[in-house]
Amino acid sequence: MLQTVIEFKNVTKLYGEEKSKAVDDISFAIKEGEFITVLGSSGSGKTTILKMINRLIREDSGNITFFGEDISEMNEVDLRREIGYVVQQIGLFPHMTVAQNIATVPELLKWDKKDIQSRIKELLALVQLDPEIFADRKPKELSGGQQQRVGVARALAANPKVMLLDEPFGAVDAITRLQLQKELQKIHKELSDKTFVLVTHDINEAFKLGTRVLIMDKGKVCQFDTPQEIIRNPKTEFVVNLIATVKEHEAFWGELK
Ligand SMILES: Nc1ncnc2c1ncn2[C@@H]1O[C@H](COP(=O)(O)OP(=O)(O)OP(=O)(O)O)[C@@H](O)[C@H]1O
Ligand SMILES: [Mg+2]
Repeated sequence: MLQTVIEFKNVTKLYGEEKSKAVDDISFAIKEGEFITVLGSSGSGKTTILKMINRLIREDSGNITFFGEDISEMNEVDLRREIGYVVQQIGLFPHMTVAQNIATVPELLKWDKKDIQSRIKELLALVQLDPEIFADRKPKELSGGQQQRVGVARALAANPKVMLLDEPFGAVDAITRLQLQKELQKIHKELSDKTFVLVTHDINEAFKLGTRVLIMDKGKVCQFDTPQEIIRNPKTEFVVNLIATVKEHEAFWGELK
C-alpha cells in the first residue's frame, strides 16, 4: 500500500474579525507519488490549503499530518526541508542571479559548493533553461515563463519529497503554458516517488495534469477523484457547471470548423 503523505482531518481556517471561513471543515488524504491538482474559483481556499501544509498559516481547528506525523508537533524547519514551494507570485529574490536563487536552500543546508554548482546545472537543464545563458542573469532579465521555470527549479533544489505549486504557470501565454505543463508532467514521472500538489483555476490544466483532482468551492471540497470519475459522475452542481464550461468551449470550436 502506498504511504499517506498529507492528510487533512476536519480542517477549518477562519480569517479576520468577521471570522469568515476560508477553509470549512475539509478532510482528504494524498498518497505518495500522486499528482494532485486543486481546482476552484478565486477565493475558494486553494492557497490557504497549500500554506497550511507548509505551516505558513495555522488551522483554527482539525488536524494535518505529514507522513503520519501531526505537523503542529513537527519542527517547522524540518517540515519545510521536505517541501518545495512555488508561490503564486513567483517570488524570486530580485537581487540574486538565477543560480543564487536556486542555491538558496542547499546553501542553508550547507551543501558542498561543488554539489551546489552541479545541482544548479542539473536543475536548469531539467526545466529546459541553458545554464550557460541563464545562470548568471537576474530575474528581471527573464520573461515571466522563464521566471516560473526558475521558481520550479528552486523549489526542487534540495530534493523535497513534496512539491506545492500555486498557479505556477499563471503568467505565460497558451503555447508556453502547454510546454511547461508537459515539462512538469515529465519531471513528475522521472522523479517517481515525489508527490505534487498543484493549484490552478484552469479546468483543462487540472484535468490534464492531475492523477486526482480536488475541486474546491467556497472553502469546501466538492469532489476529490480521478478526472475520469469526475466527468462520469459529477457530485455537485458546481462540478456539473464546471464541466459544462468545457463542453461550451468545445461546441464553440466545433461551430467554427
Ligand atoms: N490574510 C488574510 N486575511 C483575511 N482574509 C484572507 C487572507 N488570506 C486569504 N483570505 C480570504 O480567504 C479566502 C480564501 O483565500 P485563498 O487565497 O485561499 O483563495 P484562492 O482559492 O487561492 O484564490 P485565488 O485563485 O484568487 O488565488 C478568500 O476569501 C480571501 O479573501
Ligand atoms: Mg490563490
